[in-house]
Amino acid sequence: MKLPSPPRCVLGIESSCDETSVALLGADGRVLSSVISSQIAAHRRYGGVVPEIAARAHLQNLPLLLDEALAAAGVALSDVGAVAATAGPGLVGALLVGLSEGKGIALGLGVPFVPVHHIEGHCLSPFLRLDGGPSRPVPDSFTALVVSGGHTHLYRFTAAGIDLAARTRDDAAGEAYDKVSKMAGLGYPGGPVIDRLAGSGRSGRPFTVPQLKDGSLDFSFSGLKTAVRDRLSSLGVSPATGVPGDRPALDEGDLPAGLLDLLADFQEAVVRQLEDRLTRFLAKEPVPLLTVSGGVAANSLLRERLASWGRRKGVEVLLPDRVLTSDNAAMIAFAGLRRAGRGGADGGLDAPARSRWPLESLLPC
Ligand code: KG4
Ligand code: ZN
Repeated sequence: MKLPSPPRCVLGIESSCDETSVALLGADGRVLSSVISSQIAAHRRYGGVVPEIAARAHLQNLPLLLDEALAAAGVALSDVGAVAATAGPGLVGALLVGLSEGKGIALGLGVPFVPVHHIEGHCLSPFLRLDGGPSRPVPDSFTALVVSGGHTHLYRFTAAGIDLAARTRDDAAGEAYDKVSKMAGLGYPGGPVIDRLAGSGRSGRPFTVPQLKDGSLDFSFSGLKTAVRDRLSSLGVSPATGVPGDRPALDEGDLPAGLLDLLADFQEAVVRQLEDRLTRFLAKEPVPLLTVSGGVAANSLLRERLASWGRRKGVEVLLPDRVLTSDNAAMIAFAGLRRAGRGGADGGLDAPARSRWPLESLLPC
């Protein structure tokens, strides 16, 4: 069967959670433009993402971002040869906004529509470059660690398909950051503020890395969260629960040294667990290339330590540009570009929005 030739230019749309994003990619994976609008400010006072607010904000933002992305890329809508949009997993109301917009544009232009798996987008994001150059070549086989608000998953990509090598048994790494931040009264989201504050602390009493009784490589972060809560109480910081309000309860300029050290210990424990699982995985099978992606891949300590882990172990570790760690449409357009000639991840214009969608169920690309 002759596959259709790759499209001239791919339009990508992301709306699965609290970032609205539109991007345009050239046929060689070159990022022509990428615009991202974060809704963090709209959700902060509720201490987390409110699905209805997210969907409404996507609806307002998307047309503006589309114009902005086309203008920044210097292309017209008629130059678009395929449209890719996130079909899941994510918040269904939020997903439907981008998915419907993408299908409508594709139908109107008479070009293919490619539904994209959000996590496949994250796994591929480190292959994109933001220096105007074409994407890095994607090998047939690589390992992908996704560390985000909803995922701490390790996947094997091979020519035969995608399998799950390890997953979190409880909280995701980003979720642990967000919960610890909430308990410490530091607001939402937790990752960026803890990253910044932990840099001023010193990790002297590291938490132990959990080992599962069955010897599996699965991750677990809920015990760490409980251990942090206990240490917070001993510091006299009463763990906050529920809606934190508009402002962090604590004044960042006046934090007890013990709290900064505790945050450094917490961050150290997250990174150590990732290193531990990767080292044990590598002892079982070769890892020529590892991608590390998702919101937590923006973390300074994680970036430094996993890059040096790779150098020590002889593993090529690819981290996305920081801008591409959080949800973005460039990674969605890229996953769409790769699947465009193959009928998409699932179903073209018939693709539903899915709140749950195991990445392992995708056909090989
Ligand atoms: O990938 P993402 O934008 O959304 C999901 O698909 O979940 O990830 C968001 C998560 C949040 O939990 C946030 O606290 C975390 O990424 N995060 C960070 C940092 N920046 C964002 N975690 C640690 N360090 C950071 N610098
Ligand atoms: Zn994400």
